[in-house]
Amino acid sequence: MYLSREEERILDGEYGEIKERMFRILVAIGDTFGADRMIKVTSTQISGVSYKSIGDFGLEFLEDIAGKVKVEVPSYLNPAGIDTRMWSKLGFPEDFARKQMRIIMAFKKMGVYPTLTCTPYLIGNLPRYGEHLAWAESSAVIFANSVIGARTNREGGISALASAICGVTPNYGLHIKENRKPEVIVEVKVKPSSISDLGLLGYLIGRIVRNKIPYLRGLRSIDTDGLKALGAGISATSSIAMYHIEGITPEYRDFGIEGLERIEIDEKIISDEMGKQSLEPDAVMIGCPHASIREIREVARLVRGRKLRKPLWVFTSRFTKKLSADLGYLKTITNAGGRVISDTCMVVSPIEELGFRIIGTNSGKALNYLPTLSKCEVVFGSLRELIEMIS
Ligand code: F3S
Repeated sequence: MYLSREEERILDGEYGEIKERMFRILVAIGDTFGADRMIKVTSTQISGVSYKSIGDFGLEFLEDIAGKVKVEVPSYLNPAGIDTRMWSKLGFPEDFARKQMRIIMAFKKMGVYPTLTCTPYLIGNLPRYGEHLAWAESSAVIFANSVIGARTNREGGISALASAICGVTPNYGLHIKENRKPEVIVEVKVKPSSISDLGLLGYLIGRIVRNKIPYLRGLRSIDTDGLKALGAGISATSSIAMYHIEGITPEYRDFGIEGLERIEIDEKIISDEMGKQSLEPDAVMIGCPHASIREIREVARLVRGRKLRKPLWVFTSRFTKKLSADLGYLKTITNAGGRVISDTCMVVSPIEELGFRIIGTNSGKALNYLPTLSKCEVVFGSLRELIEMIS
């Protein structure tokens, strides 16, 4: 790979040992994937924040490097394992919470913004078309590539941190226009009408298509929340980091689709997958990816005046939570017995230690991860159906 003189100096250790080590990681990745050079990134989004995911080893590593290096570009954190303000009230274990706070402190020391959300594009970090990024959270990556037309590979926590510290990423994969072309046509024969329908559709597309960039046909007028849910579902069940939708996403016309393999997704595939659900949830958890203010408004509308029998937890960013408080939605949800929780989510927090066994959700991504990462069974449904179940 071509390296500039400045980059050679980093490798010679002129900018310190940590930066050198981080740059070596990027060079190794670039060599593995045949990158020709490094390119500058305008922001990074770093995963591997929850103590549940990185444990003591990750904590010690971060604390070790924290005082020795700063990030070079605006860098944003994925959700942590706790609500940093309400963890005690919610019953999260104290030892877990203390270690989690040390992880966040270490990132802050390096200059990373403690946004603690998987939807940085909803809270002020909205890239523009064509911008190069190094983002790690899979649902944010697929949103940035597909909906915005920005360019990022699906980074790991370490490679995103390395890009944050060095300000560059190797030029390969989805940074190159040619690699963004569709590889399979998905004829959608159903009419999704809710966030949960789109999340489930994404979950199935990922399961069926696995690792090819899909070109979706038959979908009309999906809003931002729907695109967020669709992409999260796709990226949860596959390694796919980009999709096109005919008539909707910005790059769908940029490539020919003649001769591509075609698959269909119809009602039967969906009902075969879901079967009959007879369980009753212990709790309903919404906001995977983190809920937008529109989704929180909808929750507030549905629970207004009710007294819920079981917990309703709505996960979002702290910025959106503040807005929902200002607009009165938070009070409406709290009055019904629900909670709006920030900085974390049902997958990266230790909900299994809080006694929850069966979770109701409307998220295709949570449908995939709750059974494995949180050891919970899932009841899948629309927001309206789920709220009815616990009213
Ligand atoms: Fe976000 Fe957690 Fe879902 S990080 S995409 S809410 S699994």
